Amino acid sequence: MSKIRLPGLVDAHVHLREPGYEHKEDFASGTCAALAGGVTTVLDMPNTNPPTSTPERLAEKARLAAAKAVCDVGLFVGATNTEGDAYLSAAERACGLKIYVNDTFGSLRIDTLEMMHRLFRSWAEKAAQVGYRMHGAAKGLGPITVHAEELMVPVCLALSHLYNVPLHIAHVSRRSEIELIRKAKERGLPVTCEATPHHLFLSVEDLPRLGPLGDMRPRLATPDDVAALWEHLDVVDVFATDHAPHTLAEKGVGASEAPASPPPGVPGLETMLPLLLTAVHEGRLDVQDIVARCVDNPRRIYGLPAQPDTWVEVDVDAAYTLTNVGLKTRVGWTPFAGRRVYGRVERVVLRGETVYQEGEVLAKPGFGKVLFQESIAGR
Ligand code: NCD
Ligand code: ZN
Repeated sequence: MSKIRLPGLVDAHVHLREPGYEHKEDFASGTCAALAGGVTTVLDMPNTNPPTSTPERLAEKARLAAAKAVCDVGLFVGATNTEGDAYLSAAERACGLKIYVNDTFGSLRIDTLEMMHRLFRSWAEKAAQVGYRMHGAAKGLGPITVHAEELMVPVCLALSHLYNVPLHIAHVSRRSEIELIRKAKERGLPVTCEATPHHLFLSVEDLPRLGPLGDMRPRLATPDDVAALWEHLDVVDVFATDHAPHTLAEKGVGASEAPASPPPGVPGLETMLPLLLTAVHEGRLDVQDIVARCVDNPRRIYGLPAQPDTWVEVDVDAAYTLTNVGLKTRVGWTPFAGRRVYGRVERVVLRGETVYQEGEVLAKPGFGKVLFQESIAGR
C-alpha cells in the first residue's frame, strides 16, 4: 500500500441542480459526492431552474449553498437571450460567466451574434472597472466560460480576442477543437480549456454498452478524437467532470417506453480521481499532471482562494471496481460502473477538519464556504 497526500481538488464544472432539480442533486448530496471524490472546491453551473441569470437568483443560490454545502462552492452566472447581461451588477460574486452557444440541458442558450457582442462587450467594460481576479487580484471578474462545440469554438475565440476577454472553453472533445485551441494559444490568445474524464476515457465505441447512459453534451467522440486530447495534453489546462446528474428513469433505464427526449449528462464527481490515478498507474500521466489540472490551473484561471490545512489522503495502489453502490450522488449511478481502477480516497481534511473518512462524510451541512460573496461588501 502506498499512501500519498494531494491538495484538495477543484472541480471547475459541476451541476448541483439546486434550485429546481433537487430530485437529481442538491448542494448537500452534490458536495458530499465531491468530498468522496477528493474534491474540496466545486464551481456550480447556472442552468438550474430558474437559471442563475440575475443578481437576486445568484444571492438566493448562495444562501442555499451556504446552508447545505460540505465543501467550498463557487457559483457561475449565466446569460439568457431574454435577460441579456442582467447578472452584471453581481458579476464579482460569481466565479465566472457561463455562455451556452450549443443546445444542451436547460434554457440557457444564446443564439444570436448580436447578443454575443453584448455579453463580451459588457464583461470587458465591467473588467475595465474592477479588473480580472484571474490575474492574481483578490477581487474582480473571472473568465467567460463557454459551452462551445465545433464551429462555435472559433466564434468564441474570435470574440475573446476582439474584446480581450479571458475565455475558458469547457469540455473540449474533438481533435479539430483541441488543434484550434493549440493554434490560438500559440498566437497568444487569452484562452484556456478543459477536458472531462468521460471524453478522456470513453468514446463512441462504448455507446453500445452504455446505451442511454452514454449520452451527454458534447457527445462521446471517436477514438481518434480521444487520442487527440491525450496527444495535446499540454494544451489542456483543466480536468473537470461536467458532473451532470439525471435519474435513471429520466435516462430511460428500466422504463417500458424510452423517454421522448432524455436529458444529456452523466455524473462524475466520485470517479474522476480514481480514473486519473489509474492513468498514472498505467504510465499515461504523472501525479503532477493531475495536481496542475485539478488544483493549480483552475485556481489560477478562476482566481480561487487557497484552502489552508487542506489535503486528500489517497491509497494509490488500492485496486477495485467502480460500482453504483454507495455513491453519494443522489442519482446513484456512474457510466464507469464495472471499470477496474487504482486509487482510493481514504480521508479528506478541509481547513484542519476531517470532513471525509472511509466512505463517511463527517462535515456538517454549511461547513463549506460560498466563494466571493464578501468581495464587493463594504465598497
Ligand atoms: C449538462 C446538464 O445536464 O446540465 N449536460 C451535459 O450533457 N453536459 C449541461 C451541459 O453542461 O451541457
Ligand atoms: Zn456542464
